[in-house]
Amino acid sequence: MMTEQENLTILAIESSCDETAAAVVRGGRNVLSNVISSQIDIHTVYGGVVPEIASRLHCEQINGVIRKALRDAGMSFDDIDVIAVTKGPGLVGALLVGVSEAKALAYALNKPLVGVNHIEGHIAANYITHKELKPPYVCLVVSGGHTHLVAVRDYRSFELIGMTHDDAAGETFDKVARAVGLGYPGGPKVDKAAREGNIHAIEFPRGEVRDHPYDFTFSGLKSAVLNYINLANMKKESINVPDLCASFQESVTESLCVRTINCAKELGIKNVAIAGGVSSNSALRAKMQAECDKLGFNCYYPEPIFCTDNAAMIGSAAYYAYLDGVRDDESLNADPNLALGVR
Ligand code: KG4
Ligand code: ZN
Repeated sequence: MMTEQENLTILAIESSCDETAAAVVRGGRNVLSNVISSQIDIHTVYGGVVPEIASRLHCEQINGVIRKALRDAGMSFDDIDVIAVTKGPGLVGALLVGVSEAKALAYALNKPLVGVNHIEGHIAANYITHKELKPPYVCLVVSGGHTHLVAVRDYRSFELIGMTHDDAAGETFDKVARAVGLGYPGGPKVDKAAREGNIHAIEFPRGEVRDHPYDFTFSGLKSAVLNYINLANMKKESINVPDLCASFQESVTESLCVRTINCAKELGIKNVAIAGGVSSNSALRAKMQAECDKLGFNCYYPEPIFCTDNAAMIGSAAYYAYLDGVRDDESLNADPNLALGVR
């Protein structure tokens, strides 16, 4: 027989950046529907996300996305126990659309409301794919806006061990992709091009932050790639794009893996997870898995659909927040700079 907790059904909403998403999640790990309306084609025209356009598109899309999430799950609002929404971090105007929608639904339906940290959502995506995963584990969160190395002590207890001092990992992928003419969003395109390239073709630097062994820096690497391209252009030499992508990706993924593995070793934690858009990078997955295999550690990563922004991961994080007693009210607001673990 199922317990009440296993049956707890959450309608989750995510609108922090350029995907309007809604999902129905049961018992924290069972995804009954997962609808994502991507704005990527529109932002591609501008070479990146335009915040005001993102907000307007969320506004247009959100009701239809929620309706589809309910329909796909074979449910009506009556079957929903909790309304969850991303409250930050992200683009403030984009977040406000989801937060306002969730508040209106919770009010009209008289259901509990739970605001969720987007980064905690990315981490929770691993629970959907790996039903057996439990804290403690070390999680590397790598997305377009964040590069965080986190010790997940418990479902609701996060210790930030390291972070980027400049660009996020995904942002670096996007900038390099743009510089070599691969377009936006760059990560998946660099990943694909790199498969045909040689990781040793070009020696790019590995960024180190002095006295902060678990922090990341990618601005030196980005400059090195741009300098390489400028020099080649000045000399009218052609660039081998697959080699450049493979060598660049090798530098990024090595920096990410070394710190994550060192952190797990130092903390004596044998479970390592990755999360966020960049965690669908094939080289990062392969490298992290190989390093974990060498040490007898377990390596976890979400299915690609749960790596990039989605609402199912918000539903999963909301489940643990709800069990922990979180109940938001009409004062819930968007917080574009919400830090990890802030309650
Ligand atoms: O988590 P996400 O969807 O949105 C944010 O919260 O930022 O992450 C998007 C980022 C983008 O920078 C995108 O280029 C990157 O994830 N990304 C990848 C790959 N797929 C997405 N980066 C490297 N390799 C990939 N396969
Ligand atoms: Zn994200």
